Amino acid sequence: MSRVAYVNGQYVPHSQACVHIEDRGYQFADGVYEVCEIWNRNIVDERRHLDRLDRSLRELSIDAPMGRPALCLIMREVIRRNRVKNGLVYLQVTRGVAKRDHYFPAGDTPPALVVTARSTDPRAAEKAAETGCAVITVPENRWERVDIKSIGLLPNVLAKQKAKEQGAKEAWFVDRDGNVTEGGSTNAWIVTKEGALVTRPAEAGILRGITRQVVIELAAREGIKFEERPFTVEEAKSAREAFITAASTIVMPVVRIDDTVVANGYPGAISRMLREKFHEVSELESL
Ligand code: PDD
Repeated sequence: MSRVAYVNGQYVPHSQACVHIEDRGYQFADGVYEVCEIWNRNIVDERRHLDRLDRSLRELSIDAPMGRPALCLIMREVIRRNRVKNGLVYLQVTRGVAKRDHYFPAGDTPPALVVTARSTDPRAAEKAAETGCAVITVPENRWERVDIKSIGLLPNVLAKQKAKEQGAKEAWFVDRDGNVTEGGSTNAWIVTKEGALVTRPAEAGILRGITRQVVIELAAREGIKFEERPFTVEEAKSAREAFITAASTIVMPVVRIDDTVVANGYPGAISRMLREKFHEVSELESL
């Protein structure tokens, strides 16, 4: 089956989907994006992802390309046309097409919108989660506004490629104080020896992950002690459990950090439970 993408008002074959060479996303990474999980024919936490998209757009003074109901319709249509039951839907909004000039273009320049969807294999994901993954650590070198879900992801790309070359799935950025900020495309967590769940506050230094927020709510429901505070690489290496969260991975256990095996090298009980019960707490919009 051939894939279909939505590009600026049209549904087009994925292989022929293009944007203009002077799209500001292409030239300046002047845009934002969102990724939602599609699970069992549901869009997961759509409202929260679109709230965060609105915030990212506002922070960069980019107009919303259209109202939310229209955007939701397009997402559904792209998912339907690609026959996705389990997978991801991707939305990207840029400041639009204009002659290359760093200043914002004229106010009547319409923002550009691209929506794509693709299937993922839920069995492969479960299998990966049963083994867990490795992460490496790299110095934090991103801009300060990582709270904005900007398409400017070069440091993230370089960090994740380095991880891949070292046989790891993710790279954890580490700030000047030795604290883990977050992964290249995920939030970072540990479970202490005392059984407390720890993740860094989202006020600064990280993206406020939607999956992160749902996991916090799930932990509260399950009566797990939760500490929102920074943690160091050393603390993570000697933790009882570690894991990463994102719409693309949900809860993925971490079993190695650099050359250190976490606990006994197997996914921990709390990580596994949070993964298993995640969709009991997330908002599901049926397709
Ligand atoms: N990444 N931190 C960063 C830097 C991210 O890029 C992401 C998501 C997250 C987790 O956010 P959420 O739980 O809302 O997905 C944290 C997406 C999935 C991506 O870039 O593909």
